[in-house]
Amino acid sequence: GTSDLQEILTFTTALARQAGDLILRGSEAILASGNVDEKKNSVDLVTEYDVKVEELVKGELEKKYPGFQFIGEESYAAGSRPPLTDLPTFCVDPIDGTTNFVHGFPHVAVSIGLIYKKRPVLGVIYNPFLDQLYTGAKGLGSHMTLRGLPPRRLPLATPRPLPSLSQALIGIECGSDRSAGIMHAKAEAYRRLAGNPAEGVERGRMAHSLRALGTAALNYCMVAQGGLDIYWEIGCWPWDICAGAIIAQEAGGLVAGGHSTPLDNDVNEEILTGRKYIVIRAIGDSEAEKGADAQKR
Ligand code: IPD
Repeated sequence: GTSDLQEILTFTTALARQAGDLILRGSEAILASGNVDEKKNSVDLVTEYDVKVEELVKGELEKKYPGFQFIGEESYAAGSRPPLTDLPTFCVDPIDGTTNFVHGFPHVAVSIGLIYKKRPVLGVIYNPFLDQLYTGAKGLGSHMTLRGLPPRRLPLATPRPLPSLSQALIGIECGSDRSAGIMHAKAEAYRRLAGNPAEGVERGRMAHSLRALGTAALNYCMVAQGGLDIYWEIGCWPWDICAGAIIAQEAGGLVAGGHSTPLDNDVNEEILTGRKYIVIRAIGDSEAEKGADAQKR
């Protein structure tokens, strides 16, 4: 119920802040030592702090909620791959944005999600470098807390209708799977979204621009907040998106897709209808429509 979710939110928020302290300390150590390992390829990075932060978060969650299941990026990498059941299941990325972490690019977050009956129901995402906290839970809305200021409900402003992709600021990522098929699909999508179409299309119908924060979790939060209109990616893992999905949804966003490697190239106006592997801010909601109608009159 709602009061259970509120209690779990309070606990996981404190835990995310604790994990954030460890990430900050780890950053100093990693920047000094350059101790970085490669997981699957030269761009799929992991550090001892990914493992340490996951151990901290997993240990505390197991103590407090012994009946809950746990799926985590590093436990998964180490071979612990419990099947997803209807039981409450935490889904954790200890350091989302590991590449940023090892470069000292300050968009890095711990992401703690909770799945119940196979749906994300609660999410806490914390970036300790910028002291940005994002939370969301089913039926409780989503909130952002910045540097000790009071929490603010998301999205920060009522979204104006987005009639076409040409007015959108779109989040993208290189991702960690750089295989030819995926890179071709991504590059083709970026070209079509950001380039000035040469033939057959009205001049200037291109997206305002593309952005990559370097973390899926914070891209979702940025859509929830309203700073990005859309985030589109191929190849995320459950822990990258679990917490972000509920934060975006509770902020009125739409999350679509679920296949990890769609290769149909299909990023176009159709994604405004929410059919393609994306999270998108609420558009054409009743408040925004009322505003647009009033302007026309
Ligand atoms: C990665 C980041 C990246 C996204 C990848 C993720 P990690 O997570 O979120 O932005 O493009 O798909 O796997 O490895 O930093 O936890």
